Amino acid sequence: MSEHLRLGVNIDHVATVRNARGGIYPDPVRAAQLAAEAGADGITAHLREDRRHITDDDIARLSETLTVPLNLEMAATEEMLRIALRHRPHAACIVPEKREERTTEGGIDAAGQFDRLLPMVSALREAGTRVSLFIEPDARQIDAAMRLGAPVVELHTGRYCELDGAARTEELRRIADAAALAAKNGIEVHAGHGLTFDNVAPIAAIPQVVELNIGHFLIGEAIFVGLAESIRRMRAAMDAAR
Ligand code: PXP
Repeated sequence: MSEHLRLGVNIDHVATVRNARGGIYPDPVRAAQLAAEAGADGITAHLREDRRHITDDDIARLSETLTVPLNLEMAATEEMLRIALRHRPHAACIVPEKREERTTEGGIDAAGQFDRLLPMVSALREAGTRVSLFIEPDARQIDAAMRLGAPVVELHTGRYCELDGAARTEELRRIADAAALAAKNGIEVHAGHGLTFDNVAPIAAIPQVVELNIGHFLIGEAIFVGLAESIRRMRAAMDAAR
């Protein structure tokens, strides 16, 4: 098991609060710098098609100033591909996106959208960006990720977080099985969505998972304890589970 489980802090919802007033405060780039100082191994930002939180200018400023790797979450569109190729972030995570959804619902259908994704994955890889596919913990999706040449998959933990009791245990088993299958085939495994102090441990304990991407809960918790402390507590919960 890799000892250090990386924490990618998603700063989208700092931008959500900023945009509620349309001004420049709070600045997600400042939050990203603070997160890096507090122990984040990377910063994740989702430039959505409708720009409801992170903006093009945020991505430009993050690209210029970050001292830790940037993971750009993006829909599989030509516009997002152009932006990613312009900034060449360390990593790009391809996610499904629907305008009406509140947050990313479900993983991308890598198997069903194979032909559409193949040139995008290739172009990003050629630009030196580490491509990850945000997928459901499902053997068919992992097989598609392999055939697409994606070096990384991020397993969707949203369902695990919403369920409880035996159903949660069953979903955890699906995630663990998917992680083992991906790693056995040489794919790096990340996980994320909906993680909190209370539910992170079993995911952090999956030996093949090397990175967690966490946003909404950390930013919400920052209201009560501050961003640095929120991140430190998550870091501690992850390390304890490892
Ligand atoms: N990973 C991916 C691919 C996501 O789309 C999101 C949500 O933007 C996250 C992780 C983080 O989820 P949450 O904000 O619920 O922690």
